Amino acid sequence: MRIVTSVAAMQRLARQWQQHGTRIGLVPTMGYLHEGHLSLVRRARRRAGQTGKVVVSIYVNPTQFGPKEDLSRYPRDLKRDLKLCRAEAVDVVFAPSDAEMYPGKAEGRYSTYVVEENLSRSMEGASRPTHFRGVTTVVAKLFNIVQPGIAIFGAKDWQQAAIIKRMVADLNFPVKIIVAPTVRERDGLALSSRNKYLDAEQRKQATILHGSLQYVRKIVTRKPAPASKLKQAVKKFMAAAPLGRLDYVEFFDPETLQPATSVSRGTHMALAVFFANTRLIDNGPL
Ligand code: PAF
Repeated sequence: MRIVTSVAAMQRLARQWQQHGTRIGLVPTMGYLHEGHLSLVRRARRRAGQTGKVVVSIYVNPTQFGPKEDLSRYPRDLKRDLKLCRAEAVDVVFAPSDAEMYPGKAEGRYSTYVVEENLSRSMEGASRPTHFRGVTTVVAKLFNIVQPGIAIFGAKDWQQAAIIKRMVADLNFPVKIIVAPTVRERDGLALSSRNKYLDAEQRKQATILHGSLQYVRKIVTRKPAPASKLKQAVKKFMAAAPLGRLDYVEFFDPETLQPATSVSRGTHMALAVFFANTRLIDNGPL
């Protein structure tokens, strides 16, 4: 497994692979890898084939964090990440520095961003106004650097995946986007690097996210219900997790992200819940 930290070296390598017709599968991550990430890596391997190359990028992207968010305390453990990648037979870990990814930023020269202007306004985008600009920018840069034919993203960040698919279509990136299912703990909690922040009691109550999804699923299996009524029902249901504070719950079309007024089976639900400063998200089809 090679560890590449420079943009130029990664681009050189990708060019060589492409000249030989080698398939490149990219798994973009911010590190602190868990089983969810590893399931993406395995999917990349399957899609790229044994002769293809799997690249995992590990980069805590500063531009997708708001000024009051957890950039400085975001968990990092490169040594452990590299070990996990080696065990999955990853070909290259691309782990650049901020200076490599955002040249001239420290001196105020960096000034180009990629902005999706529609899907990124709601939900995560409403709560975290500059978040998706950072995501689309870094993902576009990673596509230009790694030149993948396929890239794998987790369904846990459903809105992120929809926005990236839109960016790829709008900007003609020759990349196939694959969205892989959310991996969960036995009690339903979606795996996330941020779960590490939770204390024992918060961790117990954090099942309220998955619980809310199940709860609403049960309601709409019987018959469609108005979104406004279901939002109230989720707020009440949240009383079972007094340490949690609901940030938002939304019902929407899974492809267009258009809000649904009437919610039925197949409508998508997403929610975000704060446990103290830790913000967890989950989503799923109803
Ligand atoms: O989902 C993530 O971990 C990040 O948003 C991504 C796609 C790696 C971009 O930094």
